[in-house]
Amino acid sequence: ESAAGIAHVYRGTFVHATYHTAVEILEDRLLGVDTEGKIAFIGSGKEVDRLSQKWGFEAFAVTQLGQHEFFMPGMVDTHIHASQYSYAGTALDMPLLQWLNMYTFPVEACYKDLEFARNVYTHVVKRTLRNGTTTACYFATIHTDASLLLGQIANDFGQRALVGKVCMDTNNFIPHYKETPEESEGETNRFIGELLKKKYPLVRPVVTPRFAPSCSAALLGYLGEIAHNNDLHIQSHISETKEEVNLVKELFPDYDSYTDVYHRHNLLTDKTVLAHGCHLTDGELKLFRETGASIAHCPNSNISLCSGMLDVRRVLNHKVKLGLGTDVAGGYSPSMLDAVRRTLDTSKALTIQDTQYHTLTFEEVFRLATLGGSQALSLDENTGNFEVGKDFDALRVNTDAAGGPIDLINHGEGPKVLLEKFLNLGDDRNIVEVYVAGKRVVPFVEGP
Ligand code: GUN
Ligand code: ZN
Repeated sequence: ESAAGIAHVYRGTFVHATYHTAVEILEDRLLGVDTEGKIAFIGSGKEVDRLSQKWGFEAFAVTQLGQHEFFMPGMVDTHIHASQYSYAGTALDMPLLQWLNMYTFPVEACYKDLEFARNVYTHVVKRTLRNGTTTACYFATIHTDASLLLGQIANDFGQRALVGKVCMDTNNFIPHYKETPEESEGETNRFIGELLKKKYPLVRPVVTPRFAPSCSAALLGYLGEIAHNNDLHIQSHISETKEEVNLVKELFPDYDSYTDVYHRHNLLTDKTVLAHGCHLTDGELKLFRETGASIAHCPNSNISLCSGMLDVRRVLNHKVKLGLGTDVAGGYSPSMLDAVRRTLDTSKALTIQDTQYHTLTFEEVFRLATLGGSQALSLDENTGNFEVGKDFDALRVNTDAAGGPIDLINHGEGPKVLLEKFLNLGDDRNIVEVYVAGKRVVPFVEGP
C-alpha cells in the first residue's frame, strides 16, 4: 500500500489493456493518484464514502468524468526520429537507402546548430504529447549536445522518454555526417553520463547504433559493451527493406543473419527495441524471443517508403514483444492514432492477399499502442495500463468534444464503441487532458 498521500481522485469509465485481455472496460470506477503520481487505488464509484475515509480525501474534490468521456492509458511510441520532424509529410518518393542519403542525412547534419535543434525538438515533443504519446522512444542525431537538449525538452514538458544519441561511423554519401568509432564511443559515454546527471525522473538514455549498414563491427562492439556495463536500453533498425537485408549480407558476410550481427555484439537484450523487422526469418524471430528483444512496428513508414508489410500476427505467434511506432519521418504522421489505423490497414491488406489470414482486431491494436508498447520498451512496471502501483499515464478522452471529429448519432453508445470510434476517427481535439506520472501535461501551461 502506498505511503504517499492522495493527490487526485477521478471517477468515471476507465478503458485499458491487461496482461490477459486486450480491452477491459471499468465503468463507474474511482481511481486515486498519490502525491508521487502513482495509482494508489481503484475502487467502485459507489464506494466513494468508504474510500474517501480510508484514503483521506474529500468526496467533493473528486473529478467526475462526463457521459462521453473515459480515461485510457497514454500511448507509447516505440520508435520516432525527433530530428526528422522538420520534414514530416514530405520526401516519401524514394526507397529507404536513397531516402536516407538524399533527405535524412543532410537534415540531421543541421542539428549541430542548437537553436535549430531546440526549435524542432520543442515542436515534436508538444505535438506528440498533445496527440496522446505519454512515452516516446526517440532517435535524435549524432550530436551529443542537441541530444541532451531533446532530453531536457521532454523533461520540461513532462513526457516520459527514452532518448538516443545516434551512433554511426559509416556514411559514404555525406562524409561529414558520421563519427569515428572512438568518437562515437566517447560521445555516447558523455551523453549517458550527462543525461543521468540531470536526474530527470522520466527521461533515460538509450544506446543507439543507427543500423548495421551505418556501423562498423568495432562500433557495434563498443556500443554493446556500453549498454551491458550500464544496463541500458538499446534501439536500432532491422530488416526494413530487402535491399537493406542484402546490403547487410554483403557488409557482414561472416554472420548467420542480420539479427545475428546485433546478437554477436551483445545488442540483443530484453531492453532492446528494433524498428521494422518486415523481412525477418523464423530463425531470427526465435532469437528475438530467446533474448527478449522486441520489435517496433512502424506501418506508416513501411508503406510510405514501400519497405514491406510486417506480419504482426506472425511476430505475436512467435511470442516476440511488439509495440507500435510512428517512425517520423519515414512515417509522415507523429500521431499514435495514425499508427493504430495503419496497423489495422496493413493487417487488412494481408487479409486481402490471403483470406485465411487472422486479421488483427481494433482491441488487439489498442493493446499494442498502450500496454504492448510499454512491454516492448520494458517499461511496463511503471506504465502501460491502470494497475495499482503504476504511474498514472493517461488520456482523458471526450468523444463528444466541441468541434471534434466524431458524431455520436445514437447517444448511449457503450464505452467499447466510443473507444472504437475514437481510435478510428478521433484526433487531438478528443484528447482533452494528458497525464504523465500523475501530472497534467496537456493542456500546456502557457508561460507569462
Ligand atoms: N534505417 C536507418 N536509419 C533510418 C531512419 O532514419 N529511418 C528509417 N525509417 N530507417 C532507417
Ligand atoms: Zn526509424
